[in-house]
Amino acid sequence: MSANEVLTLITGSDKGIGFETAKELAKAGQHVLIGARNQVRGESAVQAIREAGGQADFVQLDVTNADQVQAAAKQIQADYGHLNVLINNAGIAADAHQKPSELSIDLIQQDFAVNFFGLIRVTQAMVPLLRAGQPAKIINVTSNMGSFGLATDPNSRFYQVSSLGYQASKAAANFATVDFAKELADEGITVNSVNPGWTATGFGGRDESKPAIPGMQSVAEGAAQIIKLALSTDQTTGTFTENAGKLPW
Ligand SMILES: NC(=O)c1ccc[n+]([C@@H]2O[C@H](COP(=O)([O-])OP(=O)(O)OC[C@H]3O[C@@H](n4cnc5c(N)ncnc54)[C@H](OP(=O)(O)O)[C@@H]3O)[C@@H](O)[C@H]2O)c1
Repeated sequence: MSANEVLTLITGSDKGIGFETAKELAKAGQHVLIGARNQVRGESAVQAIREAGGQADFVQLDVTNADQVQAAAKQIQADYGHLNVLINNAGIAADAHQKPSELSIDLIQQDFAVNFFGLIRVTQAMVPLLRAGQPAKIINVTSNMGSFGLATDPNSRFYQVSSLGYQASKAAANFATVDFAKELADEGITVNSVNPGWTATGFGGRDESKPAIPGMQSVAEGAAQIIKLALSTDQTTGTFTENAGKLPW
């Protein structure tokens, strides 16, 4: 790769919002690393990007697997020696609108394993590479479901929502944004959270062959703010935004 090319790792980018983001960033000239736990889908995502003229490589990456995350960092170090953009996109919603009093601890732990601990694990492993690639950025794909501000506002539709595992894991991921942003502010690395919004992917087990439910965004709309931040040269850090602007934490 050339010296001024931007190298971008996106977790969970073999499909959905992550793949859309990867496609668009590759179109814009970034060299994308498709992080995926499913090798077959990851490699076909790479092929699709290459066929469209973009640069992409596959990185085997289950964010819950510490050995795999370390191996991914080693591979990137050996192949490129740095990273410019990390997009922590991999996410799950193991629980769906159960009452908190009835929700199994196991489902909450599954949400946290990917959405919070996975994000921290990947970030910690990639920070040395981002330091070598500064100015660099981390974009954490969280959710308006993890906003305390919206969940406690009687005028918000999120006031009625209760998915404790998913909500708490995304709120925790937002806290990671706040704390990593402070730690890395003087090192030329920005850290921001983005809410894609309700998007017509297979997220949460939705059948993608079915038409989008009214009110759902297209995948392109869901990826737009992530792409905007990934292409921006703005050094703003520690924010939580969506297509429409700023969100309350
Ligand atoms: N769609 C929405 O309405 C919506 C709204 C707000 C926020 N979000 C957030 O947006 C992000 C992308 O979601 P999406 O809608 O594109 O969903 P998606 O189509 O289900 O994609 C999620 C991606 O994350 C990957 N993933 C899950 N667990 C993983 C793990 N342990 N290690 C590595 N990758 C893992 C999935 O891979 P596998 O197929 O192998 O599991 C998949 O590639 C998520 O963080 C989600 O919370 C989505």
